Amino acid sequence: MEQREKWATKIGLILAMAGNAIGLGNFVRFPTQVAGNGGGAFMVPYFLALFLLGIPVMWVEWVQGRYGGKYGHGTLGPTFYLMARESVKPRTALIFGLIGGALAFATTTLLNSYYLHLIGWSAAYSWFSITGAYFGKNTAEFFSQYLSNHGQVFLFWGITVVLLGIAVGQGVSKGIERWVKVMMPLLYVFAIILVIYVFALGSPLGDPKWSTLKGFEFIWSPNWTYLKENLWSVMLAASGQIFFTLSLGMGIIQNYASYLGPKDDVALSGLATVSLNEFAEVVLGGSIAVPLAVAYAPKIVPADVLAKGSDAALQWISENFGLGFSYTSLPNIFVQMGAAGRFFGALWFLLLWFAGFTSAIAMYNYLTALLEEDLGIPRKTGTWVVFVIYFLLGIPVVYISGYLDQVDAWISFQLALLALFDIIVGVWLFKPDNFWKELHEGALINVPEIYKWITVIVAPIFIALPLFGTAKSLIGTTLQWPARIAILAMLTIGAIETYYAIKKKYGEELEKNEVI
Ligand code: PHE
Ligand code: NA
Repeated sequence: MEQREKWATKIGLILAMAGNAIGLGNFVRFPTQVAGNGGGAFMVPYFLALFLLGIPVMWVEWVQGRYGGKYGHGTLGPTFYLMARESVKPRTALIFGLIGGALAFATTTLLNSYYLHLIGWSAAYSWFSITGAYFGKNTAEFFSQYLSNHGQVFLFWGITVVLLGIAVGQGVSKGIERWVKVMMPLLYVFAIILVIYVFALGSPLGDPKWSTLKGFEFIWSPNWTYLKENLWSVMLAASGQIFFTLSLGMGIIQNYASYLGPKDDVALSGLATVSLNEFAEVVLGGSIAVPLAVAYAPKIVPADVLAKGSDAALQWISENFGLGFSYTSLPNIFVQMGAAGRFFGALWFLLLWFAGFTSAIAMYNYLTALLEEDLGIPRKTGTWVVFVIYFLLGIPVVYISGYLDQVDAWISFQLALLALFDIIVGVWLFKPDNFWKELHEGALINVPEIYKWITVIVAPIFIALPLFGTAKSLIGTTLQWPARIAILAMLTIGAIETYYAIKKKYGEELEKNEVI
């Protein structure tokens, strides 16, 4: 067993894990999915995916992380290797190690390279809200002007990523843990203030046809016909959202769990992470942007659509709500609020910034840990190497249009693929009984036996859905060369790095290749 850094406090660990999970996914991606997939009816497949996929995979990843940490690993390659070795010979186990290591490397480099830019936008918009920069302007034009001002884009990106580098450079307990202990409580406070304000707003335009209550109705009233007619695509959207929002299939839950002691609870802590994320998603995430958009619909929906009546207007919102919407349409709403809008606008974008920051920090730490443990690069130096990696990978995000969406389409597929390998390696090859025993080592709760079988059998079948669904849509979109090159390059570098890391430490047993 190896001595490695540990979380200092339980609450720090839980907040770090919650921060990892709670991100733009909760406040932007979730309302987008609900609005676009039949409103309340979306919640049926959503909760199904949560219980049959999200919670079991979460436990698997916590167990994997703590297990890897026992042997000094916070990266997936060596961890997968060690777990697979329980059933197969070292050289076969190596293959699973390479798959896990390559996929996690590609996610933590590529996904974060554009996620960091999205967070940078919200840093910028916090500033633009406080200073009233977009007030009295055409907000759609303002946004595209902002995006084409690359100096400014990199400035706010830079502020964000430098702060991330500083936090990660300070270490796990002295850096990440301290930062999230401040940021996460604030995040909840910001979100709760916004939700209360949304409830209190009523019909701000004085027309009872448009109120925040109508907005809640719009999200939560189930459109069953829609669900019936689009069952597969809605199921796909729901399970994709569960992966994304819980940070599964990325390698970062394992990385955080690797800083646990071998007898620290994972069962209850994993569940706590899920609960905190779901509260921030279903309750808080669903109660801000969409109700606001509906209450102020006449100010953001195009006049010709509005003229067709309120159903057409709601339809327009459900089709147009999304990431861009947060920067082009929501600012219009803050402008309507006058001086208060500067405050609430800043609060909203700061909320997104905090949420994004505490997620991105996990990916940042994954790569820093990789450099530290596998390649012997000291943490302080490593964080700036990671900074350069993100800077370089951010260039095509800013300069090549369409690149972000293309890489994102690939990432959705990759998350499901890695989650499947989580189960193949962490449960099947590690052996279900070992998994179950590990889950209960030091556990503060007893997980009902049925969950063992859900994890072994139901979850992998359930994963097949997003796996094939995303593969299908991926085949439909021809990836441009920049995206292809980036993806192939990151997978290859990830595999080579993993090979080197495993070989360095377990070279002898690989040589012999005997069952251990
Ligand atoms: N769970 C995160 C979210 O909801 C997803 C994520 C984590 C994205 C880490 C990037 C980095 O936003
Ligand atoms: Na989330």
